Amino acid sequence: MTQTGNMTSLIMIFGATGDLAVRKLFPSLYRLYNRGKLDKFAVIGVARRPISNEEFQNSVKDSVLTALGKNENIDEFISHFYYQAHDVADSGSYGALKELANQIDEKYELEGNRIFYLAMAPEFFGPIALHLKSDGLTDVKGYKRLVIEKPFGHDLESAKQLNKQIRTAFSEKEVYRIDHYLGKEMVRNIEVIRFANAIFEPLWNNRYISNIQITSSEILGVEERGRYYETSGALRDMVQNHMLQMVALLAMEPPIRLTTDEVRSEKVRVFRSLRSISGGEVDKYFVRGQYGSGTIEDEQVPEYRAEPMVDKESNTETFVAGKVMIDNFRWAGVPFYIRTGKRMKTKSTKIVVQFKDIPMNLYYQPEKMLNPNLLVIHIQPEEGITLHLNAKKMGGHLDAQEVKLSFANTGINAMNTPEGYEKLLYDCMRGDATNFTHWDEVAYSWAFVDNISDVWENTKAGDFPNYSSGTMGPRASDELLEKDGFFWWPVDYLDVDICK
Ligand code: BG6
Repeated sequence: MTQTGNMTSLIMIFGATGDLAVRKLFPSLYRLYNRGKLDKFAVIGVARRPISNEEFQNSVKDSVLTALGKNENIDEFISHFYYQAHDVADSGSYGALKELANQIDEKYELEGNRIFYLAMAPEFFGPIALHLKSDGLTDVKGYKRLVIEKPFGHDLESAKQLNKQIRTAFSEKEVYRIDHYLGKEMVRNIEVIRFANAIFEPLWNNRYISNIQITSSEILGVEERGRYYETSGALRDMVQNHMLQMVALLAMEPPIRLTTDEVRSEKVRVFRSLRSISGGEVDKYFVRGQYGSGTIEDEQVPEYRAEPMVDKESNTETFVAGKVMIDNFRWAGVPFYIRTGKRMKTKSTKIVVQFKDIPMNLYYQPEKMLNPNLLVIHIQPEEGITLHLNAKKMGGHLDAQEVKLSFANTGINAMNTPEGYEKLLYDCMRGDATNFTHWDEVAYSWAFVDNISDVWENTKAGDFPNYSSGTMGPRASDELLEKDGFFWWPVDYLDVDICK
């Protein structure tokens, strides 16, 4: 949180007929509009297809209705939308766009503020940024900001090149790299839970925490994204960004204040402390998996290698489990286990902070050990926290039993839970880059992940597919924790009763 900025802006969405714009961006803008969060604004949708303004406005209308099931005030809202057919490689196209942008700027009194949102295939990010500068679209008297979707490069080298291209047109402060996990309500809540509660922060270190587990499992397979996913795999698709971002928020030192620079620099320090794992070490710390066929929610689903645009002998991982070590004073010796995959048993993202066992167990019963205290942060689909404690069994002698203190709501579909994108768009318009990734975070996380992908790409996984769809991943993922005397807390054991 820094400058609370000027919500007056011209938003240009490149890739305006694509999935992201239709499913997320238009509904998010509509919600901001209906909440009175947008001052003066207009949107220019940019894409290759030649369609009229009216057709474009109708597609925005449909997308809002489909996503939100309602659309009051929609006609007024869509009157702010314009469309420009565009060839991303042609300077002439940018010239026409500039002219339209200037007219709209004047009509809506947008003070020359511009947001360029690239909801496109990543190969276009660099060229578009260069054209925006060379064809004069960034010569504005207000602010100019570039919002860029993932993937930010394919590895450290390509990310550096992309960054160089972008930085010729935009300064680091003007670049908003999206990681949509940073828009999730409970991911944002990690800092508050940690830094606003006297009962947690003193315990938040290697003296009291035995391990931290982060699971982000999906039921869906690779769907229509086989072409992209074959070049990415779960490591690049989920670990380099979302999973490591959650690690950083859990592990960072308290920032001296909540400004963008302070928060990001604390996160960068975590990335700098990641134990680098390479070569022969990779197998000790990381496990890869690929889904076979199986049954999910009573439906038979095919193996990954039978999905569209996937190599019949694909070596691509659809599952990753890893043990991440942070070599600093606070975290020395505490494993952060991460696990993510497609076609797993359940759609769920949860963080489990497992505290160390108490020094002496007075309540030991031969058939039952005391459970360790757990702090569970439910990211999705439920949103909330649960604290697992031990308390006396009602009416019993002095037998201890586990009780769960929960605070949770249904998330996702609940109308009071704003979509991640809505928050991120709002932040960008206000000029608050705290929940976007700084280049240094991107660079360090690629460096970490590159060491692992170097090994995996050069050695064929002989046992693929090694987990059935509808399970929690390969056996080796359980063994990774068993070696250290731990186990993955079962997701259903951690479930909470939802307050409606
Ligand atoms: C995206 C990945 O970044 O995150 C997808 O590219 C993945 O492969 C998605 O499905 C998961 O996001 P969420 O919000 O559903 O957990």
